[in-house]
Amino acid sequence: MDPLAFLGADGEMAGRIRQHDWATTSLGPPDGWPQSLRTVLRVALTTRHPMFVFWGSEHLCFYNDGYRPSLGPEKHPSILGAPGRASFGELWDIIGPQIALVMRGEGATWHENHLVPSYRHGRLDEVYWTYSYGPIDDESAPNGVGGVLVVCTETTRQMKIEAALRESERQLQRMNDELEERVSAAIAARIREQVRLAEAEETLRQAQKVETLGQLTGGVAHDFNNLLTPVMGALDFARFALDRDADAQEVIAVGLQAADRARTLVQRLLAFSRRQHLAPRDVGIDALIDNVVELAQRSLRPGLRLSTEVEPGLPDVRVDPDQLVLALLNLVVNARDAIPGHGSIAIRAGEDRDPPRTRMGEGRFLRIDVVDDGAGMDGDTLRRAAEPFFTTKEPGRGTGLGLSSVQGLAMQSGGDFQLRSASGTGTTASLWLPLSASASTPAGATEADAASGPAQAPAARILLVDDDPLVRASAAGTLRRAGYEVHEAVDAASALAALRDGTLPDLLVSDHAMPGMPGMDLLRQVRREWPALPCMLVTGYADDLGEDVPGVERLPKPFLPRELVEAVARALAQSTEAA
Ligand SMILES: Nc1ncnc2c1ncn2[C@@H]1O[C@H](COP(=O)(O)OP(=O)(O)OP(=O)(O)O)[C@@H](O)[C@H]1O
Ligand SMILES: [Mg+2]
Repeated sequence: MDPLAFLGADGEMAGRIRQHDWATTSLGPPDGWPQSLRTVLRVALTTRHPMFVFWGSEHLCFYNDGYRPSLGPEKHPSILGAPGRASFGELWDIIGPQIALVMRGEGATWHENHLVPSYRHGRLDEVYWTYSYGPIDDESAPNGVGGVLVVCTETTRQMKIEAALRESERQLQRMNDELEERVSAAIAARIREQVRLAEAEETLRQAQKVETLGQLTGGVAHDFNNLLTPVMGALDFARFALDRDADAQEVIAVGLQAADRARTLVQRLLAFSRRQHLAPRDVGIDALIDNVVELAQRSLRPGLRLSTEVEPGLPDVRVDPDQLVLALLNLVVNARDAIPGHGSIAIRAGEDRDPPRTRMGEGRFLRIDVVDDGAGMDGDTLRRAAEPFFTTKEPGRGTGLGLSSVQGLAMQSGGDFQLRSASGTGTTASLWLPLSASASTPAGATEADAASGPAQAPAARILLVDDDPLVRASAAGTLRRAGYEVHEAVDAASALAALRDGTLPDLLVSDHAMPGMPGMDLLRQVRREWPALPCMLVTGYADDLGEDVPGVERLPKPFLPRELVEAVARALAQSTEAA
């Protein structure tokens, strides 16, 4: 049998081993090689599985055609028959100990996808291998092991694919997470938007409800007002007709009181429905607040302290002063009712240099705060407090119209109103009103105008026009008792006729709502024919008057006799001033 038959195999490496000059190596020529080496080489050279052999104490290198492509030109073919350490210097730290272990007879090794950096094609490649190192027997060798058979597969490609796969999985996961985050953010934004929308709708619905209620209330109040005027007129008339009957006087007094209360209620209803007739003028806030304090003191219990803080040198505020006094009294009374025992109420007024512009226009604004340290309101009460007819007071004690009329005044005056409160921490009610462009009038000057009472009334002649005989008779009676000379007319036409016939009166007082020519039209006609004649208009309610006639004193219905006399005195005083 040919001892070199194992080299007879086909292939490049078989040829190279055959041609190699083995005589110059420690192994010597092939015919002297041990049988175990020959057997292993025969197996290696006839398979396509990559295989490598380290032989002898120098670990001389053999490898087959399957292994060849794993080597770069730096190693193939030069390492064939060369010592292992010199051939694989760059990775001897890794494979040296494994070869030594097998050579010591301690068994075989097994590694899967093991990183073995290898120098090939001019660079150090990261190369992965799955391989085993197995002993090749040789009885003549120390430990009975002549060499090491390496059966291996390079798994670099597979590992790179797996790594790339893992990376793309990670990326996918990241994208998924991001997508999830974005989707949940979008959903949250959507939900927020819907909640906002729902709240806006609710506010709108609420506003519409209040608006409708306002219209309804305004209409009812208007009719009520018209009814109240003759009732008060009749009572006033009866008071004088029965002036010697003490019992009747008592009953009439009660009736007048009730009518007066009804009148206040109607005014509040009109204020809430923002249809009250306001007479805004420039008002000094100092004197007005003094007035409020004086009126409020009467209704405060001992143990309640009412203080004021007014910024000095404020310009006048543009508002109906009587309505503002009422509004502030409302707020003080609310504060009083919210303080169970001892406590304090403060009225603070000053210019708000940064007012909330949501509902107010440009210009300067006064802010009046009424602050109490009372029980405060919980969220639900606070939300509903300014609703018309909302009250937490026992029946008969509150109409629930106080705050809504304050709000009505604020809105109708071009200002704003807000409440801040929490349970147990008291309440701050804030009212904004436009400051007048003109300079401040000295405190109290406006009040002085109205101070001229009936006592100083000059014996002036008044032409009184009213279609309602009861109202006309009671008004005429009141004015006559105040010392005026009164001529009566039943409508605009007869008033004009009287003016054209006779001498002119000092004042024309006309009702507005009359059949035929309404009062306002009568005044327009009078202005054209007798421009200097002072006029006064009695109005049921502010709407549908048409264009205003300037310089006309107005008296809203229903009125008390005293108020009629005061208004007439004012109108006459104005005309003498103007003359
Ligand atoms: N300063 C305050 N502190 C605590 N609660 C208040 C205060 N002001 C108002 N409220 C609450 O708001 C409700 C409505 O007030 P509003 O002034 O409109 O009506 P009212 O005071 O109940 O009745 P009215 O003013 O007709 O006498 C009150 O019943 C009360 O519950
Ligand atoms: Mg109130």
